[in-house]
Amino acid sequence: MLQPLNFCAVALLALTATAKQTCKSSPGDLSWPSQNEWNSLNQSIQGTLIKTSPAGSSCYPGNPFDSPENCTAVKNHWSSAAYHAAWPESIDYSIYANNSCLPPGVDGYTAGKECSIGGLPQYIVNASTEHQVATAMKWASQRDIRIVVKGTGHDLGGRSTGAFALSIWTHNFKRIQRHPQWHLPGTNDTADVVICGSGNNWGTVYNAVHKINRTVVGGEDATVGLGGLIQNGGHGLLSSHHGLASDQVYQVTVVTTEGQRLVANDIQNQDLFWAVRGAGGGQYGVVTEFVLKTHPVPKNVVTGGFSFFPAQNSNASETASWNALAEIAAQIPDLMDSGLTGTVTALNKKKAVSYLGLKQEMPGVSGMISFTGFNMTMESMNASVSNLAARLDLNNVNITLQSPSTKSYWASTKPDFSASNAAGSVSLMTSHLLGRRELSDIPREQLVSHLQEIMVSQNTTAGTMLLFGLQAGKGPASVPEMRRGSTLPAWRESYVHAMAYSASVDATGDPSQSLKAGADWINKAQESVWKHWAPHSGSYMNEGNTFSINWKHDFYGSNYERLLDVKRKYDPSGSLFVWSGVANDEWDYDLNSGLLCRV
Ligand SMILES: Cc1cc2nc3c(=O)[nH]c(=O)nc-3n(C[C@H](O)[C@H](O)[C@H](O)COP(=O)(O)OP(=O)(O)OC[C@H]3O[C@@H](n4cnc5c(N)ncnc54)[C@H](O)[C@@H]3O)c2cc1C
Ligand SMILES: *[C@@H]1O[C@H](CO)[C@@H](O)[C@H](O)[C@H]1NC(C)=O
Ligand SMILES: *[C@@H]1O[C@H](CO)[C@@H](O)[C@H](O)[C@H]1NC(C)=O
Ligand SMILES: *[C@@H]1O[C@H](CO)[C@@H](O)[C@H](O)[C@H]1NC(C)=O
Ligand SMILES: *[C@@H]1O[C@H](CO)[C@@H](O)[C@H](O)[C@H]1NC(C)=O
Ligand SMILES: *[C@@H]1O[C@H](CO)[C@@H](O)[C@H](O)[C@H]1NC(C)=O
Ligand SMILES: *[C@@H]1O[C@H](CO)[C@@H](O)[C@H](O)[C@H]1NC(C)=O
Ligand SMILES: *[C@@H]1O[C@H](CO)[C@@H](O)[C@H](O)[C@H]1NC(C)=O
Ligand SMILES: *[C@@H]1O[C@H](CO)[C@@H](O)[C@H](O)[C@H]1NC(C)=O
Ligand SMILES: *[C@@H]1O[C@H](CO)[C@@H](O)[C@H](O)[C@H]1NC(C)=O
Ligand SMILES: *[C@@H]1O[C@H](CO)[C@@H](O)[C@H](O)[C@H]1NC(C)=O
Ligand SMILES: *[C@@H]1O[C@H](CO)[C@@H](O)[C@H](O)[C@H]1NC(C)=O
Repeated sequence: MLQPLNFCAVALLALTATAKQTCKSSPGDLSWPSQNEWNSLNQSIQGTLIKTSPAGSSCYPGNPFDSPENCTAVKNHWSSAAYHAAWPESIDYSIYANNSCLPPGVDGYTAGKECSIGGLPQYIVNASTEHQVATAMKWASQRDIRIVVKGTGHDLGGRSTGAFALSIWTHNFKRIQRHPQWHLPGTNDTADVVICGSGNNWGTVYNAVHKINRTVVGGEDATVGLGGLIQNGGHGLLSSHHGLASDQVYQVTVVTTEGQRLVANDIQNQDLFWAVRGAGGGQYGVVTEFVLKTHPVPKNVVTGGFSFFPAQNSNASETASWNALAEIAAQIPDLMDSGLTGTVTALNKKKAVSYLGLKQEMPGVSGMISFTGFNMTMESMNASVSNLAARLDLNNVNITLQSPSTKSYWASTKPDFSASNAAGSVSLMTSHLLGRRELSDIPREQLVSHLQEIMVSQNTTAGTMLLFGLQAGKGPASVPEMRRGSTLPAWRESYVHAMAYSASVDATGDPSQSLKAGADWINKAQESVWKHWAPHSGSYMNEGNTFSINWKHDFYGSNYERLLDVKRKYDPSGSLFVWSGVANDEWDYDLNSGLLCRV
């Protein structure tokens, strides 16, 4: 009689042990901390713990989670990235938080769905000291609680939120301090740097460095934060000249899930320093501070360009328009080597009509070419633009010249915090880095067919936008090896960061199913095209397909195994999980149940 009982007890023990190891803790579990335990955590971090109270709660009868916000204001500001950044729990693309507790009427709202915390974190640390971050992270990882990190919540793949998680909100790490002669660790040299808390956004940092007549390499949108952009690479207007944002980092301060505060630079914690410079957002720890290289302000900014579209509703125009796009794409590497940056946007079907103001839908493809040059004359910009336009078959495509302009650097880059109004919609895209090999040194017919293949759209009448960001080239290629960090090596051989917006995601469906359907389509229709077109290259994680089947190769390339070692060393409990992050294949995050479980 004893034997079976013992067996049972052992089996039960084993079951509990497995259950505990298999999934991160959730509020239904026995292991989930009691109210008293949360209270004592709160006390140990100076009362900075917030119980999640979604802004949208103010729109539901009885305001079930006691939001201090005003429903009318929440609805009015739902598309503004700046508001999501200021609300502790919120993210820009709510589908990744399971559309939990949306204000009525916004994208993704389903009548009858109650306000719940759902895909949002359960608690948030409104941290202002590294000690608070360290205490909270150690506490949570000891209890097998998932940890997420939110800077602004702008992540296009929803990686700054998570169900049943404790969120570390870096919003209040706002230090900005210039140091014109900062001592470079391990050398006798100094550099002109700005020391920035990770809670800053680029607009704030640009404003600050403008006052000292310097500039930094950052993103193009004022409300985007330093934390995610720098750690995953980061491109902007100056990246094709000076390298990526992650290439500008001389030192970081990181708090780990085990509660250590580590200064990482060229001579200490080099493995962590390497990892957070390129493949880092939300994965290895919380970066509280960056030491960033500053650059001299360019003398001027010159812009110019043109748009093109098929001249007639004819096969000849259709063919000519695709050839035009291919010709432009092939010229990009030389144009960038001559000092130009900017964007080339290709559009077809209805998207071409709405973006270019065409009178009717045209066959083939249309495009907008917008160049930016620094320290450049207008003559030189004009010459580049007219030489490029002259290469097109102007009998069959029409062009509209953009009037060129020259401005001071500040007049052209002054941050506009209200400009970022894309929040609240659905975000799902695919991206790839393309170099000379894929653009110029490829038979023209092949280039044309790759362009046509990548510009498919899931909704065949809506069409596609293919955006070529001219953001790599000489800058990233000439960054010394030791400053490169773990950024995907393909950046160094690329010129263009290409993004395609072609999937149509059902915003109001069940979020996990809608995302899966969209991602399945992208994987089948588009990832396969990149793989064929640019098998040796990869993708930019911050603006890529979060659910790419090629994620390991495309986001990390040859760095993957080394990154996995760093991940295991600094986050041994696997408390920090993000979609398509390192070790992503060891976990399954089910947006529907909210559970994060080992597979
Ligand atoms: C309107 C808009 C414009 C954009 N323009 C550009 C551009 O010009 N160039 C470009 O390269 N990208 C651009 N992006 C993409 C941008 O890089 C990503 O959205 C990026 O995730 C933003 O980082 P964040 O810290 O603001 O966002 P969050 O959503 O707060 O964070 C993004 C990721 O980084 C992690 N993270 C954030 N802070 C920290 C920290 N301190 N420590 C550890 N992990 C952290 C989060 O956990 C999450 O995984 C743009 C995005 C938007 C929405
Ligand atoms: C944490 O403590 C502060 C200050 O006492 C309090 O205002 C806040 O509500 C507490 N947070 C939680 C989650 O209880
Ligand atoms: C809510 O905000 C709206 C618009 O911002 C404002 O007009 C209204 O007075 C506010 N209501 C309350 C109760 O504060
Ligand atoms: C996510 O949303 C779906 C559909 O609305 C719902 O059935 C599910 O319970 C939600 N899950 C969580 C964790 O919020
Ligand atoms: C977060 O903390 C800061 C102080 O660091 C405080 O000013 C702010 O009101 C807090 N925000 C919330 C939402 O509690
Ligand atoms: C820095 O300068 C000191 C004193 O001149 C010298 O001994 C040392 O070797 C130098 N270090 C480096 C890394 O150049
Ligand atoms: C700002 O810096 C630029 C480039 O370094 C220099 O040419 C210019 O004179 C400086 N302007 C001021 C106002 O100091
Ligand atoms: C512009 O020229 C100055 C020197 O006059 C140089 O320091 C700076 O790096 C240049 N900027 C760019 C973006 O090329
Ligand atoms: C293109 O230009 C030609 C010549 O000016 C004109 O006849 C034609 O209508 C234009 N096509 C479109 C689509 O506007
Ligand atoms: C255009 O090409 C298609 C086949 O691709 C053909 O069926 C059609 O007749 C052609 N139209 C014209 C106007 O040449
Ligand atoms: C540049 O081209 C525009 C027409 O596109 C012309 O008006 C302008 O005078 C040109 N500027 C220079 C400096 O060549
Ligand atoms: C496809 O796109 C068109 C044009 O943008 C739109 O009117 C239509 O509703 C979309 N169809 C579906 C099924 O989403």
